[in-house]
Amino acid sequence: MTNEIETAALAARFPTGFTWGAATSSYQVEGSTGADGRGPSIWDAFVNEPGRVVDGSNGDTAIDSYRSIPEDVATIKALGLGAYRFSLSWPRICPDGDDRVNEAGLAYYSNLVDALLAEGITPWITLYHWDLPQTLEDAGGWPVRATAERFGQFASIAHAALGDRVKHWITVNEPWCAAFLGYASGEHAPGRREPAASIAAAHHLMLGHGLAARAIKAADPEAVVSVGLNFYPIHAATDTPVDLDAARRVDGVQNRWFTEAALRGAYPEDIVEDFKAISDFSFVEDGDMEVINAPVDVLSVNFYSRFTVTGNGGATSASAAPTGAGSAWPANEHIGFVSSGLPVTDMGWEIDPAGLTETLTRLHASHPEVKLAVTENGSAFPDKIEDGQIHDPERLDYARAHLAACADAVDAGVPLVGYFAWSLADNFEWAWGYTKRFGLVYVDFETGERTVKDSGRWYGDLVRRARANREAE
Ligand code: FCB
Repeated sequence: MTNEIETAALAARFPTGFTWGAATSSYQVEGSTGADGRGPSIWDAFVNEPGRVVDGSNGDTAIDSYRSIPEDVATIKALGLGAYRFSLSWPRICPDGDDRVNEAGLAYYSNLVDALLAEGITPWITLYHWDLPQTLEDAGGWPVRATAERFGQFASIAHAALGDRVKHWITVNEPWCAAFLGYASGEHAPGRREPAASIAAAHHLMLGHGLAARAIKAADPEAVVSVGLNFYPIHAATDTPVDLDAARRVDGVQNRWFTEAALRGAYPEDIVEDFKAISDFSFVEDGDMEVINAPVDVLSVNFYSRFTVTGNGGATSASAAPTGAGSAWPANEHIGFVSSGLPVTDMGWEIDPAGLTETLTRLHASHPEVKLAVTENGSAFPDKIEDGQIHDPERLDYARAHLAACADAVDAGVPLVGYFAWSLADNFEWAWGYTKRFGLVYVDFETGERTVKDSGRWYGDLVRRARANREAE
């Protein structure tokens, strides 16, 4: 039984104006992949390849959010949340990946935004959460520069339609995953295993971020622009030089590569040297780094776990992909990941709330000029529905511990402006299909029925208390 005094004390630790939300992404929740003129994405193609998704499932129906705006908004409202982070399906809006606009696709997002605003819920839009139009992949995908340019155009199209009502824009979600799981290990769409191309993909994802951020700021200087990165505290398995060097490499690629490009306009030199083993960086053109170094108002921090690294591992993934495909670390095929003995979630991801405080305080120390928001944090555990209820003490404990870790960061002076639980509801978990449940809300994948879990109730209670404190001030 949750201690109410403890929850009230935790709520009181968050500042006035703090944003409380939950997150989803288009391919994971929308379904209706063939509806109303939506074009195919790389995930539609990928899921049809045998062996790519552990349960052989796909996002054709997902949790039917495309046809459930009233239900989804009611769920967010019932939880008492002030914000909802969702992503736009690029091929729903631009079916061919070019500037031909599918008005029906745009209308869905426009209706969703209106429905949220009518309930006082602030939309936070992610422009790219991995569902690239298949036409752009056919033309070379992210390793090709034109994809970044197309993404800049897409940002302008989306902002022109929604920017009158939407102020919060996250350009690209987790370019590490999109580049290295998509193009190096092949664990995610488009499933290519081309290490050298994955480094070009990473660059063009960041170029796309810069072009999109600039387009949005040019259209609305008041817009709050962000990029979503996934961070992990990195520990060396031992203090041998080979493990320490492996930890430097993993930290550099995971925690510094994208952050320093976006916020400093330069890639970390040590990692450039490492990558030179397989890449000549000929895809970097004059002026690219200035474009990438676009103004970022809030850095979006996605946080789940920590890594313990060895230099004698042999190219494992650390993404815990069901296939164990590995090799998500181009030019670093000697590294591997070991257990540090901490408890794990159903993903096998180690639970390290103190690592979230460590991540936030480190980011603030390195980049004091930028505000931070936790835009994804959550845990998968198997759920059982009993008498119409979901008792999920492990997920609740994970949420409570990570929110306390956020409060610790606030106490340490970190300008943390928001927290979004991953995820609003159970959904399609990429290569894990429907086998992993991250939701605050349970979804019966047969009927689509939603049931708020204990963790969702607890989170809603925390949010209401935080809001009440604010009103009492
Ligand atoms: C993140 C993704 C999100 C979800 C969570 C569990 O890497 O951004 O879509 O899959 O992991």
